Amino acid sequence: MAPLVQRSERDKIEPFREKFAAAWARTDELFAIVPPAAMLAQPIVWRHPVIFYVGHLPAFSWNQICGGILNWPSFNPYFDDLFCRGIDPDVDTGECHWHPDVPDRWPTLKETAAYRDHVRDAVLNSLDAVAECFSNDIMAQGGRVFDMVLEHECMHQETLLYMLQQLPITEKRRPASPLRYSFRRAADCRAVRIPRGRARLGARFDDIAFGWDNEFSETIAEVPTFTIDSLPVTNGRYFEFVDSGAYDDERHWLAQDWRWKNLENKRHPSCWHEQDGLWYYRAMFDVFPLERVANWPVYVSLAEARAYANWRGKRLPTEAEFHRAAFYGPDGRETAYPWGSAEANRHHGNFDFAAWSPVPVGSCPASASRWGVLELVGNGWELTDSPFAPLPGFTPYMKTYPDYSQDFFDGKHFVLKGASWATAAELLRPSFRNWYQAHYPYVFAKFRCVSD
Ligand SMILES: [Fe+2]
Repeated sequence: MAPLVQRSERDKIEPFREKFAAAWARTDELFAIVPPAAMLAQPIVWRHPVIFYVGHLPAFSWNQICGGILNWPSFNPYFDDLFCRGIDPDVDTGECHWHPDVPDRWPTLKETAAYRDHVRDAVLNSLDAVAECFSNDIMAQGGRVFDMVLEHECMHQETLLYMLQQLPITEKRRPASPLRYSFRRAADCRAVRIPRGRARLGARFDDIAFGWDNEFSETIAEVPTFTIDSLPVTNGRYFEFVDSGAYDDERHWLAQDWRWKNLENKRHPSCWHEQDGLWYYRAMFDVFPLERVANWPVYVSLAEARAYANWRGKRLPTEAEFHRAAFYGPDGRETAYPWGSAEANRHHGNFDFAAWSPVPVGSCPASASRWGVLELVGNGWELTDSPFAPLPGFTPYMKTYPDYSQDFFDGKHFVLKGASWATAAELLRPSFRNWYQAHYPYVFAKFRCVSD
């Protein structure tokens, strides 16, 4: 029977050849935004310079597949180690998990790109080797290690983009194809009542081809009745909060959020600025008068979202409430996406690099959940006020990456759900969880309000 087993492993693994080609093409397109001379730029102080990420993606691939599963001897142990893990400090204290020492001089782009190309060849050669290795490591089976490496690459594409969002526009190269923006009128927001019921969080290990450790296992939450806004908060609505002076009123902020706001001297969302009494919005490649993008969802930190919701006499949703609003409907049935079970395509929302920016809220009626709540997936991650915590039965099952989630179960990271315009379609499964600190203002994250 061995040849049959072998064929079925090969059948599962062969499609990864094309998936890697597509992922690497997009990675290269995104790094091309940064001129070679700007590779040492560090647009966010809490993250390494851009060159680190050029090396990190191949190093992770090598360390997980060729080193971790196949035990192949390294052709560049120094780079495997130097680029193995980045920084992601506590933004309040500056403390960071373990990472390799920062070198006195980063390798050049040429050296790093040569390493990347060598690893990419090795990854393609590893496809057959993993199919034939009959390892009892669960990551070697069904191509899980390839899914892990691909999803890691997709997540870093988005991370890179929100880093580049912070880089001055004059230091970036525009994409070859013309940029298209939408500024039309927003749809009207209404309150949608979601009756008491159950919501399933996470997944059973055998039910999905691949999931990160924090997605397991399945747990059922009983969610009391709540009311949720059909649309996220826009720049225009948030401007009312800032312009009225309420953004600078301590009464609307949690104590720890107010401390952070003052330390950082935050007066408005990160991609806004005021000049000569006029307000502007900095998108990835263009600056617009704020009123022109008044209907785009506002991108803020959790701290700023909480303050706004509090000012409105509301609050943010929990992770379970998000699931209930997104994946259920009046008949109690759960679906894979808010709109049902049809595979996600661009008709359903602004994700999978459909644009280089948000679009006006309510632009995609087909995104509606069966309750009538719009764009829960797409146009910006949805902030929740649920701490990122292990689901019951959590196991750090990825032996070569045991600390993927565990370092962040610290009460300071909170769950985000859904997707932004820069989130790959591969990451849209309901169990996928993203997480950030409440005081991290760089993510393409929007929010909506709920009430009991
Ligand atoms: Fe990484």
